[in-house]
Amino acid sequence: MAEFRLPANSTVKKGKNFKADAGATNVRKFNIYRWNEDDGENPRLDTYEVDMDKCGPMVLDGLIKIKNEIDPTLTFRRSCREGVCGSCAMNVAGTNTLACTMANEDIKGDINIYPLPHMEVVKDLVTDLTHFYAQYASIKPWMQTVSPTPSGAERLQSPEDRAKLDGLYECVLCACCSTSCPSYWWNSDKYLGPAVLLQAYRWLVDSRDEHTGERLDDLEDPFRLYRCHTIMNCTNTCPKGLNPAKAIAEIKKMMVARQG
Ligand code: SF4
Ligand code: SF4
Ligand code: FES
Repeated sequence: MAEFRLPANSTVKKGKNFKADAGATNVRKFNIYRWNEDDGENPRLDTYEVDMDKCGPMVLDGLIKIKNEIDPTLTFRRSCREGVCGSCAMNVAGTNTLACTMANEDIKGDINIYPLPHMEVVKDLVTDLTHFYAQYASIKPWMQTVSPTPSGAERLQSPEDRAKLDGLYECVLCACCSTSCPSYWWNSDKYLGPAVLLQAYRWLVDSRDEHTGERLDDLEDPFRLYRCHTIMNCTNTCPKGLNPAKAIAEIKKMMVARQG
């Protein structure tokens, strides 16, 4: 039987252990993936003992405390701290999620934190999203029209048409869904993945957009759209409670409908 092993330089080693201050009585361990291309070392898992009586409630609060008070070399992205910017996406306790909306108390045992899976790591918890953003740009995520803009007026939308954007506009492009999708793991060079397809659908159903046909033409491809095999990891992991798998199914329905 074939055996698959990680290359020797990819094996995650046991790293440093940072002890909590003496006297701390409510201590939890954060086990965090560390990797820095510049030092030429293997990745390692460092353990930080955190005094939870002096720590905010969310996983991101723990990371910020560690960086500020224990180890300033720890690297991660964050901005808004309230689930709006999408930049603190990482794998926490085995799930892709936003560190700022995941409560420490909802995690049993040690708090294990890794970068988003199947992405190139830049440093520690920071992954390279260049390709992901290029795929997003490829679906032209802006309104495209041919009719002249009504002079002095906005392009109006009925409340019913506006409601069709609910469950789509809330996406913060965190990439949690795409990096949980096996089809995206293996074919991300050609498959757009659930996040970008949800965004594509957001423009396909916008009643004000007038490029629906061209948008569908761009997606009519065995890889860009049809690599979705309805595995549902994307919907199960979305920290905003969205349903990318449903959006993808709706695009497929639009493809069929226009052939009829
Ligand atoms: S659909 Fe959800 S998981 Fe995917 S990018 Fe948007 S907010 Fe993140
Ligand atoms: S439903 Fe489609 S996009 Fe979502 S995880 Fe499965 S294959 Fe990927
Ligand atoms: S810091 Fe903005 S979503 Fe977490």
